Amino acid sequence: MIRNEVIDSLMSRKSIRKYTDQIPSEEEILTVVRAGQQAPFAMQMGSVIIQENRETNIFNAPVQFIILCDIHRMEKVMEARGWKREASNIHSLLFGAQDAAYMAQNMVTAAESLGMGSCYIGAAPYKSEKLREDCNLPDHVFPLVILTMGFPSEDPPARPRYPMEFHLFREKYPDFSKGTVKRAMDVMDRGYLDQDYYKNAGFMIPLSDKSKEEKFTFDNYSWTEHISRKMAQWSTDPEELLKQLRICKLPINENGTE
Ligand SMILES: Cc1cc2nc3c(=O)[nH]c(=O)nc-3n(C[C@H](O)[C@H](O)[C@H](O)COP(=O)(O)O)c2cc1C
Repeated sequence: MIRNEVIDSLMSRKSIRKYTDQIPSEEEILTVVRAGQQAPFAMQMGSVIIQENRETNIFNAPVQFIILCDIHRMEKVMEARGWKREASNIHSLLFGAQDAAYMAQNMVTAAESLGMGSCYIGAAPYKSEKLREDCNLPDHVFPLVILTMGFPSEDPPARPRYPMEFHLFREKYPDFSKGTVKRAMDVMDRGYLDQDYYKNAGFMIPLSDKSKEEKFTFDNYSWTEHISRKMAQWSTDPEELLKQLRICKLPINENGTE
């Protein structure tokens, strides 16, 4: 792999969940947000709310950004041009989510280059009612993700990723052999076990089905079991998110209509 300053920074980044007392300067914050803005966009439908109250911020981070999928602002520009949005909510959300996500990831990289660390928190879409209230969000603004940020007071190792054969497919999508799947799972599980990740976190997702016997301990519970339990047991009811979208006045029915 070719190495240079940018690649090295991307390769060594890890989510930071513990922060020092140092408060990022206004210049540092504005630099991070400005670098975020410069990400590629489809319609510039990403915007940001900054929250600087350590007491209430997740991980007591000095700074926390609510990353917004902002269709309202687009509509304001359209209104000034005498247009009304006819693009569907699902289209607007899909492209707005991309704008917001690429913007946020630029912010992560920019923060890293300034010696700061960050961590995404995925609960924002489920908290849209409270965030609308707390942050005065207008209709047609959907909170996509929270991003905590500050100077790190921990230095965890970089987390593993799937091997390239399980990630990059040349021209055609492959039919995964059992061996390929197993090798990829081993890389992930060994990586997390070697770091005692779940043991240190003291966290294992419990089995929802209480009739099932727990067969894992912190000696063999690792990422593939963790992520499988998450995707098999959590967020199973589409209504949970459909409701949040209705709250934000961006309704999408199960058949994709509004
Ligand atoms: C959309 C999204 C949601 C996430 N939500 C959480 C979260 O709620 N809590 C948390 O501690 N980390 C969260 N993370 C961070 C991931 O756990 C982390 O990126 C992943 O484990 C890989 O580790 P790394 O970032 O250190 O490489 C989230 C990341 C993303 C992209």
